[in-house]
Amino acid sequence: MKPGRLLKGSRVPETITITDDRTGKTVTVPINDGTFSSAALRELDKNLFIYDPAFLSTAACRSSITYLDGDAGILRYRGYPIEQLAEHSTYLEVAYLLLYGELPDEGQLKQWTYDVTHHTFIHENMRKRFVDGFHYDAHPMGMFVSALAALGTFYPESKDIFDPDSRHKQILRLIAKTPTLAAMCYRFSVGLPFFLPDNELSYPANFLTMMWKVGEYEVHPTIERAMDVLFILHADHEQNCGTTAMRVVGSSQADPYSAAASAASALYGPLHGGANEAVVRMLTDIGSFDNVDAFIEDVKSGKGKLMGFGHRVYKNYDPRARIVKQTADAVFEVTGKNPLLDIALKLEEVALSDPYFVDRKLYPNVDFYSGLIYQALGFPVDMFTVLFAIPRTVGWLAHWDEMLNDSDQKISRPRQWYTGAGERDYVKLGDR
Ligand code: ACO
Repeated sequence: MKPGRLLKGSRVPETITITDDRTGKTVTVPINDGTFSSAALRELDKNLFIYDPAFLSTAACRSSITYLDGDAGILRYRGYPIEQLAEHSTYLEVAYLLLYGELPDEGQLKQWTYDVTHHTFIHENMRKRFVDGFHYDAHPMGMFVSALAALGTFYPESKDIFDPDSRHKQILRLIAKTPTLAAMCYRFSVGLPFFLPDNELSYPANFLTMMWKVGEYEVHPTIERAMDVLFILHADHEQNCGTTAMRVVGSSQADPYSAAASAASALYGPLHGGANEAVVRMLTDIGSFDNVDAFIEDVKSGKGKLMGFGHRVYKNYDPRARIVKQTADAVFEVTGKNPLLDIALKLEEVALSDPYFVDRKLYPNVDFYSGLIYQALGFPVDMFTVLFAIPRTVGWLAHWDEMLNDSDQKISRPRQWYTGAGERDYVKLGDR
């Protein structure tokens, strides 16, 4: 649309006009979907920059993968509501959807499932020489991050990121091998021998078997489905910290294993992937139903936060939290109720009727209930972020692939607002 033109039936022009008061120069540019191009500023003055730490107002890319409306509490993958995918789909089908834009037909899904399940094995040296080299009490997520980067060294062709066959192969390998790596890191951390993948099993059942099999073990179908639903819910969330790391590192044309290792490193941080762990620790500290009111009063007076509440983008109930809550009910039917559930439910009830939380639009996020499920399934809290990283791998890869196909993208290289010293002369050591 031409700048300044009125939309049909609209009374306001879909444009923005910026005036540089220093020079009186003005530019008018179109607003598309709530976004205008920074080229407008370059037109005004090529040395003028926007100071936007944490990218609060910056759209760093165009993307057609995930739609998120934080005010309305909407999340869609490729247009499909997360609620429908969680009810009807599987993680592998969703992975295909995120990567290729459409749900697979029967033949495509069969081939995709076959391809993923036949890339689940890992080179023996990864375990014998690499994972076995970690200290006995290494954090599983620390191992996972490094193992991802190390994995790339087994596939020199992964550097050919513009070769479509190689790119597809690395995507398959990463999706297929992350559960194997995760289980390997866990079993090492508790001193259990590694258990090889079983390609006859579904993606979540294979992961759960590699995690827990000691002697006889069969995955309960409810637990298998719950794991799959949690994988679906965590598969993508547009330009979060980890995905942004994937895009930034990928923009230098690094191989996908190195880029995914940087994305996983971002996820490792407690402000990103670590919140579900913090929720379980918080509920354990509260300890009893009777201490909930006092805890809420403490939070309101500034003593700590209600973990698992609030979100940078969602100013409404996180749609994933609702599904996780339903999934928790199904899991607890099998495992028995997590004793922390009552505390969590009471916290939610109190917070959602308290003006402090209501006025600030603080609602439960995806992490509020997920940790309770993981704990009921037997996962130690150290594994929670790894459980997030496994399904998020496909989100990272879908964004990486989209970026490489986007002609607008170049190497990421933000500018800075320099606030340091002006030019000064070097002073010799003895004269300082
Ligand atoms: N408990 C109590 N008060 C809170 C909480 C909370 N969980 N979250 C925000 N607030 C308050 C803030 O103190 C602030 O109050 P003020 O206006 O009186 O100063 C107001 O709500 C706005 O909060 P901000 O910190 O400005 O919100 P921001 O968007 O920067 O932070 C965040 C979002 C980091 C998620 C925050 O809500 C939080 O720390 N929540 C707890 C941790 C958590 O659950 N993280 C998981 C997020 S989901 C994910 O990453 C997968």
